[in-house]
Amino acid sequence: MPPEVGPARPPPTTSARLGVLVSGRGSNLQALIQAVETGALNARIALVLSNRRQAGGLDLARAAGIETVVLEHRQFATRDEYDQKLAEELHARHVTLVCLAGFMRLVGPRLLDAFPDAVLNIHPSLLPAFPGLNAQQQALEHGARVTGATVHLVTTDLDAGPIVLQACVPVHDVDTIQSLSERILVEEHRIYPEAVASVLAGGWRIEGRRFLRGGSA
Ligand code: GRF
Repeated sequence: MPPEVGPARPPPTTSARLGVLVSGRGSNLQALIQAVETGALNARIALVLSNRRQAGGLDLARAAGIETVVLEHRQFATRDEYDQKLAEELHARHVTLVCLAGFMRLVGPRLLDAFPDAVLNIHPSLLPAFPGLNAQQQALEHGARVTGATVHLVTTDLDAGPIVLQACVPVHDVDTIQSLSERILVEEHRIYPEAVASVLAGGWRIEGRRFLRGGSA
């Protein structure tokens, strides 16, 4: 169920600390690292955590001097136990905003309750179209003329949380999954840091499913 209306969130008083969760190559992580390094994003990446030891994103984090942790989900009996451990690792680094960046695990209430309205995800479609896996392939096979990228707050409903930012990408007749994915990825790398900055800036509220900036309800 979407969160209820609440007061507008104040900006953080101290520099925000991000925790980024990855399972794969980590190009969105790299976009966040660059945004921090260039000053476009006023935050610090306190931890990069992966459920896969071989994730390329871990190498990118180490190269940037960011602490990394591997938590393999196979080592935990239940999702709750895994999510509890995730939350503990993030809290131990005083993380205030969690960014899923190609994290191929559903996150459950144990993590979401530990970080209320503070878990973001990037998805390679214009949600609510094409949620779940293989979003680019879904768009292509459906014959969509436009698709794109979405940054949203994570809730227990898959890819259905309040939308923070979206970008459109055209679908061409000659597109393959790869060419379309590459075009979408350019937009992902542009909007993820922008969405994180927007969330960190505060002054927003959730109304039903909507993420609204400025004004009062
Ligand atoms: C991206 O397409 C992202 O939207 C999706 O998984 C992919 C991760 O890519 N959730 P990368 O690991 O950030 O390069």
